[in-house]
Amino acid sequence: EKGGYDHFMLKEIFEQPKTILDCLRGRLNAEKGTIQVSGIENYLEEISRANRIIIIACGTSWHAGLVAEYIIEETCRIPVEVEYASEFRYRNPIVHNGDMIIAISQSGETADTIVAIEKAKEQGAIIMGIVNVVGSSISRISQTGAYTHSGPEIGVASTKAFTGQLAALMLVAFKIARHRQTITEERFKELCSELALVPGKVEKILEQNESIKKIAESLKDSSDALFLGRGYNFPIALEGALKLKEISYIHAEGYPAAEMKHGPIALVDENLPVIFVATKDVYHEKIVSNMQEIKARKGQVIAVINEGDLVTPAIADSVITIPEADEIIAPILNVIPLQLLSYHIGIARGCNVDMPRNLAKSVTVE
Ligand code: F6R
Repeated sequence: EKGGYDHFMLKEIFEQPKTILDCLRGRLNAEKGTIQVSGIENYLEEISRANRIIIIACGTSWHAGLVAEYIIEETCRIPVEVEYASEFRYRNPIVHNGDMIIAISQSGETADTIVAIEKAKEQGAIIMGIVNVVGSSISRISQTGAYTHSGPEIGVASTKAFTGQLAALMLVAFKIARHRQTITEERFKELCSELALVPGKVEKILEQNESIKKIAESLKDSSDALFLGRGYNFPIALEGALKLKEISYIHAEGYPAAEMKHGPIALVDENLPVIFVATKDVYHEKIVSNMQEIKARKGQVIAVINEGDLVTPAIADSVITIPEADEIIAPILNVIPLQLLSYHIGIARGCNVDMPRNLAKSVTVE
């Protein structure tokens, strides 16, 4: 049932070219430049008129929400807030009639997320579910939404469900953006073509497995790690850190790269690995200078970069080189080397990667 892989986690990481394609299939037509998401067509008008979107989720799904915040604000020009379900449900949150709630959940059974959206629904919000498990509680509470179609995820740490969430959220964001005419037809078509290229690019990233394993060997005895990214890649730094904590029990933190000067840089010495998500985007030069600052303090720099980047390899101790993509699409690719890195570090430390201690696949109690 592990399909020849040693662990479900590795199997599920390697399934991603297919699971992302399954999410896009029948929805994205890159040649024609169209997106059809049947679950949202009936609410397209309401969604497009929303004054505000609140995204509610926990854990890795919350990280997908943060990526979506950046993408929706940029392409749809609708203000977005991202809330931890557990915080939202116990506050006295301000929800207006017609506000749009996006609930993101792999299992569709996370207790805090369920209660949070029930509360928002009572206050007149429209609930859109981005859910993996078909027929789950969150999918039933939602009036509109899109399944991620990632298939059953057995590994406790979320991998393919996360990239499925990103793919579904991108489809929804681009669809709304075009409907609102906040992006041009030309830009919409460009994003459609870029999205269609993702499964093939993921395939290419997976070919780096052996070299990522070598980097993992060099990190296996670390006690801490820092993950840094900017813009669309800031939530990917958070996700990289969460994955490493869960899988290897190494203490890790993710930060927006520029925040390091406001505290975390105090931790940097020759024993601290700092993992940069530094693919090409408008922030690239800035993140390279953050990298130089870490090197100046003898930190160990590992960087995820794009093919053709000749500057970073001269600064970083090790690099993982992946195909270039539009900066809006890039997060879905950039998380994959971080998943593999956590997997191999966990294995090198003898951890049970499929069932990390103290964790449950579905958190059905608060
Ligand atoms: C991390 C992980 C958890 C879940 C979180 C939400 O790898 O799996 O952080 O993302 O418990 O679960 P769902 O998405 O099922 O609501």
